[in-house]
Amino acid sequence: MRRAKKTTQDFALDDDPLRYKNAVIYELHVRAFSDGNADGIGDFQGLTEKLDYLYDLGVTALWLLPFYPSPLKDDGYDIASYTEIHPDYGTLKDFKIFLTEAHRRGLRVITELVLNHTSDQHPWFQRARRSAAGSKERNYYVWSENQEQYKEARIIFKDFETSNWAWDPVAKAYYWHRFYSHQPDLNFANPVVKQAMFETVDFWLEMGVDGLRLDAVPYLFEREGTSCENLPETHLFLKELRRHIDEKFRNRMLLAEANQWPEEAVTYFGAGDECHMAFHFPVMPRIFMSVHMEDRFPIVDILNQTPEIPANSQWTLFLRNHDELTLEMVTDEDRDYMYKVYATDPKARLNLGIRRRLTPLLGGNRRKIELLNALLFSLPGTPVIYYGDEIGMGDNFYLGDRNGVRTPMQWSADRNAGFSRANPQRLYLPVIIDPEQHYEAINVEAQQQNLSSQLWWMKRLIVLRKRFNAFNRGTTQFLFPENRRVLVFIRRLQDEIILTVANLSRFVQCAEIDLSEFKGSVPVELFGQTEFPPIGDLPYFITLGPHAFYWFKIETAHPAAPRAADEVSLASLEVAGTWDRILAPGAKSALEKILPGYLKNCRWFGGKARRIRSITFAEVVPIPFDSTKALFTAVVVNYSDGEPESYFLPLAFVTGERAAEVQQAFPQAPVVRLKTKSDGEVVEGIVVDALYDRAFLKVLLDAISRRRSFKGNSSEIVASPSKLFRHLRGDTNALLEPAPSKREQSNTSIVYGDRFILKMFRRLHAGSSWRLLRELLCHHGDPGGFVPSRGTSVGFHRAGIAALRARYNRNLCGVGATLGPTNGRVSRGAGRGSQ
Ligand code: NOJ
Repeated sequence: MRRAKKTTQDFALDDDPLRYKNAVIYELHVRAFSDGNADGIGDFQGLTEKLDYLYDLGVTALWLLPFYPSPLKDDGYDIASYTEIHPDYGTLKDFKIFLTEAHRRGLRVITELVLNHTSDQHPWFQRARRSAAGSKERNYYVWSENQEQYKEARIIFKDFETSNWAWDPVAKAYYWHRFYSHQPDLNFANPVVKQAMFETVDFWLEMGVDGLRLDAVPYLFEREGTSCENLPETHLFLKELRRHIDEKFRNRMLLAEANQWPEEAVTYFGAGDECHMAFHFPVMPRIFMSVHMEDRFPIVDILNQTPEIPANSQWTLFLRNHDELTLEMVTDEDRDYMYKVYATDPKARLNLGIRRRLTPLLGGNRRKIELLNALLFSLPGTPVIYYGDEIGMGDNFYLGDRNGVRTPMQWSADRNAGFSRANPQRLYLPVIIDPEQHYEAINVEAQQQNLSSQLWWMKRLIVLRKRFNAFNRGTTQFLFPENRRVLVFIRRLQDEIILTVANLSRFVQCAEIDLSEFKGSVPVELFGQTEFPPIGDLPYFITLGPHAFYWFKIETAHPAAPRAADEVSLASLEVAGTWDRILAPGAKSALEKILPGYLKNCRWFGGKARRIRSITFAEVVPIPFDSTKALFTAVVVNYSDGEPESYFLPLAFVTGERAAEVQQAFPQAPVVRLKTKSDGEVVEGIVVDALYDRAFLKVLLDAISRRRSFKGNSSEIVASPSKLFRHLRGDTNALLEPAPSKREQSNTSIVYGDRFILKMFRRLHAGSSWRLLRELLCHHGDPGGFVPSRGTSVGFHRAGIAALRARYNRNLCGVGATLGPTNGRVSRGAGRGSQ
């Protein structure tokens, strides 16, 4: 328990037990991602070096394919040791470094728990085949003298295997395997096997792994006269596993890989006491079918057949993954259709599926790629992106098995696609050089430089998805306009209502949608924040270009006038650790969502009449004081039209009497209610504008007097008092009581005793530094005699501003300005102060 808590506190992870509902998962293979030691094989060192890319992409969790010692006959799903790292990929130390660095960026890590089978090279199997029949060691696996048992179990790898039994000449018996014959199935009826698996789970979760994908979970047990799938014994085991994890660890997740029909797949949630998540396999091929048939029926039908799931459970959706596009969960007729339209070359077919990546499946059609991704990101479930699909990587089905979709990630047009510095002949698989999909054209570097690239489009999509909890946790309701080529559904969470309208056809379509429930409201398109005409009495009429889709937020037509600050009900957040975690990834985006409402009530905020698209933190500098700290921040406000603006927003966390005092005297000061949890201690308080917190204001004056400077990730706050200031302040330690002015204008003033007025800037203007203090006025004992002292300044001095500027992109739906979390390096574009 202690260990788990420490993990959560030490890193930039939020403490929401349902966080997997908000996730955007990125699936990758360590060996395919980046080669750190130039041996032609990707490794943990290389992956760690690419974490900034993944952070920048906006994904929140990484799912790693198996990286354990293995003969690699099933790409690592043939495990030879559960608690080590394959030497090609590095060491346990490398893994731990990777995990720490991922967590520092707020990225969760999901690894593979291959329960069902091992490699025949696993010491357990080698021991079993040599042990006496009936012994505990032999019974780690399932044996038989003949092949008569379990005849009703289907063969999964149809193209490679003819039986689920294989003869072992050493044991002189048959052993059971649901996949390749070199992958004997473990015998879960043997309690020692279960125990060994629990120990494996503890090993990785104690290290800090956040989630486990339970590979091939329906096949754990066998029973005569059944299909040997989804047996009650399996569910009992999963309940035991879940209990074990919940008792020992905090905030961990189990993801079931159960390639089953919805009514079976749903059983892997149990009553919310088995797996937290499960893949929804059947919906995937139906998305492809709907788009090719230009008919919404397949999608709507399968989701209508999908039972409700427990409140703490979540589907996981994907378009493509490391396997073939499986057609096990479709009818024979539908399978023929899918083969005919998506696998014209018979070489593309494998087992009961199609071994192709997303882009080649869709003929490289960018509109279709966007449409399918939009569906992936708005249908109910947590989306998974398969590595390389964010840039539209190609495939090569001549490589055998599923290797054609597992080729090296394409980073640049350099040798080996920038994946490795090795001799090209040493690569674990060749890079894609198909003329249409050549890595020289399809790579991260090229797409980073083109704001219209698929990569940038995906970033925008991810940002939007994360901004609306209705996508993550909302209900789903289909609407049925007469035109079946148009798919319409509503995701709704309390008063957050998102309408998706998608044209499944390659031609322009129109639809009349019954939105009478929302009469008087205005649909606002999310990518551009474009207001559509209000919803009236008639069905809502929409036209859509070929394969176009819209995401609308349904808003009330005439937003109520901003309420007086004291009437505003405060939003609440929770963080693990100290309060400044509020600006760690995860919590930060939650706070950014709250800011538009907050700013609209600030007198000094000049953008009240404009439509805010997003607000992001551009600069953060901690100012330590007493035993806590304030945070000087600059936020960039992106509008749907025109230039963004930057504002100064210093934050402090106040509790108890101090909180009550600030709240009462300055109702405009509270930004958000905050609960922190640290070492089991819960502290509740309010995050306020620090310019209303007297304790902090004293420190501020003192800092100016003492010429202090404070460093942030990419900028520094520097105070430079003028001579006149020092003269007036004198040597005296006399306390100059600060009193924030109640009458705010476009700036905020603080009067210090009878000596100073600080006028703090709110709007920040372009430049390599941002001045926070326009002027210091000094009182000369004469009540009317405030004199400007232009020499004194306090300001953000921004390092590397040229680089920040160059990477600024106002089209990025508000990703605009955030700072990379590491070493002060900038990993995202940053906003410029506009003027
Ligand atoms: C499911 C995995 O996704 C697949 O790649 C693997 O071949 C089988 N399990 C067998 O381990």
